Amino acid sequence: MNIIIFGPPGAGKGTQAARIQEKYKLKQLSTGDMLRAEVASESALGKTLKATMDAGELVSDETIIELIGNCISEPECERGFILDGFPRTVPQAKALDEMLGHMARKIEHVLVLEVDNDILIDRIKIRASESGETRSDDNEEILRNRLEVYEAQTAPVLPYYKDRGVLRKINGMEPVNEVTAQIEAILANF
Ligand code: AP5
Repeated sequence: MNIIIFGPPGAGKGTQAARIQEKYKLKQLSTGDMLRAEVASESALGKTLKATMDAGELVSDETIIELIGNCISEPECERGFILDGFPRTVPQAKALDEMLGHMARKIEHVLVLEVDNDILIDRIKIRASESGETRSDDNEEILRNRLEVYEAQTAPVLPYYKDRGVLRKINGMEPVNEVTAQIEAILANF
């Protein structure tokens, strides 16, 4: 089973993807985590990525598509994977379909976490205040830009998957366990 978990910044993608990985033994592929690891390595690529991510802008499609292409062909993804933070643009979604087509695989579910902006802002403020290591893009000003980028560049991916009949909408404003229960109910029906 191959899944995409989709939603705006702070919607709970990473939280729920970790739970799905554990329960269904699918490999979680978080592009945000991968990029932050590259930045932490202080490589030349990492230094370029840092400026883009700190501004709340998207990294180039080319960089991300190469990153994901290398991961999904790994043996650890053979049982299936859950994509967290990818695709984030229509060209990324098209490139993913092409890659999966070569592997005779496809996306079965796009789980869309729907959360209002004021709740997202509160969540990120809480994460920034509680986390030992605050993410450099977790402040209100940059978060507002991340939300604008989501609306302009990422939300247009939804019609792409709607046309394929794989969109599953989830109320992401409920408590974490309730959101997990909604996801499990959806996956149990297929
Ligand atoms: P990325 O790391 O993907 O960040 P994001 O999409 O902004 O999402 P977050 O990690 O902030 O939130 P989340 O939805 O995972 O929520 P979480 O579970 O953490 O991307 C970062 C940057 O990398 C991008 O801005 C871009 O620059 C670059 N990038 C990444 N992928 C890219 C791509 N494909 N193309 C181009 N650039 C890319 O939860 C948030 C908080 O809320 C947590 O504290 C959590 O405990 C809490 N929470 C979760 N669920 C609930 C709930 N139901 N109720 C209450 N609290 C909850």
